Amino acid sequence: QNVTVVDHPLVQHKLTIMRDKETSIAGFRVLLREIAHLLCYEVTRDLELEMISIKTPLETIEAPTLKGKKLVFASILRAGNGLLDGMLDLVPAARVAHIGIYRDHETLQPVEYYFKAPADIADRLVIVVDPMLATANSAIAAIERLKQRGANNLRFLCLLAAPEGVQKFNEAHPDVPVFTAAIDSHLNEKGYIVPGLGDAGDRMYG
Ligand code: PRP
Repeated sequence: QNVTVVDHPLVQHKLTIMRDKETSIAGFRVLLREIAHLLCYEVTRDLELEMISIKTPLETIEAPTLKGKKLVFASILRAGNGLLDGMLDLVPAARVAHIGIYRDHETLQPVEYYFKAPADIADRLVIVVDPMLATANSAIAAIERLKQRGANNLRFLCLLAAPEGVQKFNEAHPDVPVFTAAIDSHLNEKGYIVPGLGDAGDRMYG
């Protein structure tokens, strides 16, 4: 499977507090932003560097800098914005795509209501963010749209995944690695991740 579980102790600790139903909306929001920093660190770990010449106050040196075009972060609304905010703290120059998709509660099929992406995403690394990978229908649809627009170097970052979702996502987009803080037990009959943390959008925005 093309999936990396970020098992850093700080990630696991924060995730436990986020799962706790007693955690407030304000607390959840702060934690999601903090955990996004740690996940961003892992998902960007292998980015290529190139050397540039700079002058320190003492001398001219060759020093490493990120190679290539600016990253694109693609947020699946609404809950993706919670991860997006933390990612932008670490990579403030990233370009941003917004993809409005919600799950129909009956059919669990994704319904797209908004799509806005920078024009030149073809030769950039695009990191798609959404806290939850449940049936994976939303993520699969979002990535299809980005591929239609020319994206060919993609990663998917979430907080929680269901095993069913990871498998389906890997089958649909084998070229897109998944990064997650945890893979939970299963999906229930309503398509919720169990034990999960509830509905991430509701926990963050009410
Ligand atoms: C949630 C979540 C994902 C999707 C995951 O969004 O943030 O986008 O469901 O489910 P899936 O993998 O089965 O498609 P939701 O539909 O609740 O929309 P919201 O974030 O706007 O509340």
